[in-house]
Amino acid sequence: MIINGPNLNLLGKREPGIYGDVSFETYLESLKKRDGVEVDYFQSNVEGEIINKLHEVGFSFDGIILNAGGYTHTSVSISDAIAAISVPVIEVHLSNVYAREEYRHHSLLAKNCKGVISGFGLESYSLALDYFVRIK
Ligand code: DQA
Repeated sequence: MIINGPNLNLLGKREPGIYGDVSFETYLESLKKRDGVEVDYFQSNVEGEIINKLHEVGFSFDGIILNAGGYTHTSVSISDAIAAISVPVIEVHLSNVYAREEYRHHSLLAKNCKGVISGFGLESYSLALDYFVRIK
């Protein structure tokens, strides 16, 4: 399951110098072409909807790839939801958050995640998917 948080619906249009000019829907097609892998996708700009989705899939799916956008740096509730579920979560970011503003250097989510992948553009999602495919 891939979950994208706020403003990631604008990928391709939003600050293309940082986030690239390809929409997530276009990139998702290439992820879905992988043999033997079923990829579901959910995007929301609403914190509670992200939490509801984590609860919904968090006891049955093989893995969750989460880009919580700005909520990464602010949301105690998303962090608690990750701790509450049993499915492993990989935190991903398109940009290298450590090369950006200081407020992006800290993640409230990371300590409850399996790991963090940051800075590889859309390939961050592919790298996370590789992990789940290999360990399954
Ligand atoms: C982001 C990084 C966050 O700091 C930012 O708020 C985003 C996108 C990334 O994918 O690089 O919305 O998660």
